Amino acid sequence: MSGKRRTVDSLRSQRWYAATDMRGFAHRQRTQQMGLRREEFLGKPVIGILNAWSEISPCHAHLRERAEAVKRGVWQAGGYPVEIPVLSVGEVMVKPTTMLYRNLLAMEVEEVLRSHPIDGAVLLGGCDKSTPGMLMGAISMDLPTIFCPAGPMSNGQWRGVKTGAGTHTRKYWDELKAGRISPQDWVDLETGMTRSIGTCNTMGTASTMTSIVDAMGMTLPGASSIPAADSAHPRMASACGARIVEMVFEDLKPSAILTREAFLNGAVAYMALGGSTNAAIHMIAMARRAGIDLTLDELGEVALRVPVCADIFPTGQHLMEEFYFAGGLPALLAKLKNFLALGERTVNGRTLGENIENAPCWNDEIIRSPEKPVVPLAEAPTLAVLRGNLAPSGAVMKVGAADPALLRHTGRAVVFDSPREMFARIDDPDLEIDETSVLVLRYAGPVGAPGMPEWGNLPIPQRLLAKGVRDLVRICDGRMSGTHYGTCILHVSPEAAVGGPLALLRTGDQVRLDVPARRLDMLVSEEELERRRAEWKPPVRPAGGAYTGLYREHVLQADQGCDFDFLGGPREVSEPDIF
Ligand code: FES
Ligand code: MG
Repeated sequence: MSGKRRTVDSLRSQRWYAATDMRGFAHRQRTQQMGLRREEFLGKPVIGILNAWSEISPCHAHLRERAEAVKRGVWQAGGYPVEIPVLSVGEVMVKPTTMLYRNLLAMEVEEVLRSHPIDGAVLLGGCDKSTPGMLMGAISMDLPTIFCPAGPMSNGQWRGVKTGAGTHTRKYWDELKAGRISPQDWVDLETGMTRSIGTCNTMGTASTMTSIVDAMGMTLPGASSIPAADSAHPRMASACGARIVEMVFEDLKPSAILTREAFLNGAVAYMALGGSTNAAIHMIAMARRAGIDLTLDELGEVALRVPVCADIFPTGQHLMEEFYFAGGLPALLAKLKNFLALGERTVNGRTLGENIENAPCWNDEIIRSPEKPVVPLAEAPTLAVLRGNLAPSGAVMKVGAADPALLRHTGRAVVFDSPREMFARIDDPDLEIDETSVLVLRYAGPVGAPGMPEWGNLPIPQRLLAKGVRDLVRICDGRMSGTHYGTCILHVSPEAAVGGPLALLRTGDQVRLDVPARRLDMLVSEEELERRRAEWKPPVRPAGGAYTGLYREHVLQADQGCDFDFLGGPREVSEPDIF
């Protein structure tokens, strides 16, 4: 931040609007074509409201209305708001995975900001990949930016029992397969679980990411906790609009906010929330855009220091609405002061420490202190980074979501090369599998699938479910939904499709998981692995679309954040010629 207040004349939008040539005429003329008076837009900062709204994403279904609230704030503060749609990447409907499109969204946001007369941006999104995708683009462009999170949906209830999006879908699916609920119950659940628009109400990837970004200073303080349907939500959106106009004059950009310390503050929030494993990938990718070398091991180290303090599904017992009523993220951060760099600047112009100074907590059970965590740190850190001859570049797991009895386990591998093969054979009575087996799905990584889908919560065979088995050690080079649970080792790197050692594993091999020692190994001799390596051939994969080809060629491995190799930072983003 330059300290000196910018004048309107110096803003980039004025290259378009104040130009005295024929083009300048066209920019003013064409804006008035939409029914605006000159006085409404001339001589004002132009605020781009980049909106990931779509009618096929329930998490973002209210964002057209929220854009109107942002506009109110922008007009009130003397700016000129323009709403621009961007890719929605709604988690529920997009196949094979929104992860395939996170980088496309990031590129779109960067280029939309670059090519238009925009001085500052409010980003409207929140479903899993939309948060990192939008921010990665905004970080590269480095214009003043506020992230306005979509907000979690209201509490779910079914027959008097609390239900969380994702978490209870999986739970009741297993109950259905085990014969404990009826097919009619299952139909009934369709309308019982999700009560309002908004992102998942558990600590899945959406709330993990919006909360991390909040702690890093890129949202108004506490914005990530406000439920989508609460009247506080449009008020927060309007406040984003008013504040971004000031940020443009202050020239307060992401590069002044997103320091290494800010990322580490985000990591502290991540661990204290019991956040999704997906966040490890997205944090590394965002940091890379900001020119900060944040490693998987650093995140693993924060996880060793910061216990889970927020009692939210799937690690805990509550939902986002209750977390909000208990005081939300500011209350949680206030209890974590000793872990945080409090001097970091945030979008409201104040420091993180100033923002959380008087944050009240109304429920010390839902928002705990690190001295009285939801689960003791030694038993269940949010993130464990594992290494070994199966994952030389690392693999991750959410220890709090795993069966403690499986954290040290050696078992016989049952290996599948595709979900199609796995679903065709998993309930085959001839499949040799029991509760001690280690279930493996590979070729599900960034290059292999491609796009690294959330296939890692591998299904438990029906006959084991009927026996009461609810967890198995599962290994995958793909990801898992943050709303799910189980002893799932994910993001195995390098992935099988690029010749990672996971490609050499065979059904019948012994696999040893030792979470306390942070190890994941196959008990196969080096000579035997050498022999298998010489025989291995990369799988023949369907071509996919043109974008998929670009993705496969340029995507980085999970431990590097899965961005495209040519998009890292900091790199110069030049202003366009406007002749
Ligand atoms: Fe959109 Fe969970 S599906 S946030
Ligand atoms: Mg999710």
